[in-house]
Amino acid sequence: MTHKVLFVCLGNICRSPLAEGIFSGLVDDADLTGDFQIESAGTGAWHIGNPPDPRSVDVAERHGIDISHQQARTVTLEDFDRFDVIVAMDGDNLAKLTAMSDAPRAEIRLLFNAPPTDVPDPYFGGPEGFEDVFRLIRSGCEKLLTTFRQAG
Ligand code: 4NP
Repeated sequence: MTHKVLFVCLGNICRSPLAEGIFSGLVDDADLTGDFQIESAGTGAWHIGNPPDPRSVDVAERHGIDISHQQARTVTLEDFDRFDVIVAMDGDNLAKLTAMSDAPRAEIRLLFNAPPTDVPDPYFGGPEGFEDVFRLIRSGCEKLLTTFRQAG
């Protein structure tokens, strides 16, 4: 069975591209590449078609992950049927996703079900914030992969 996972933040240039790249790397390392389809999207439309923020590209590269090929897109109504799990980076994104769809097939959830709960938006901060966000997202993605593996 293929698990279809969509990571969602606001702009789809900082956090969710990192989540897409990190989770894909963990899945590859676990030899589960063919078992997952992984994408990311944003609830906001400002950056459609753009590559990830250079600060996200840089921090990913420092950790051996290439996200430079990604292109920002917005969440569509189709996503709620096409994906099994839609993973929001923070409570605002979760609320927007929940409001967008009446009867989603996808499970809509936060990356962290327990505190710290939100992955903070690093866009208006300095580059050091991106290292913290990378580590936070990686720990959330590790837990998420464990959840999939435990569910079979
Ligand atoms: P992201 O960060 O949601 O992690 O991609 C942001 C990127 C851009 C903006 C806000 C957050 N923006 O306002 O343009």
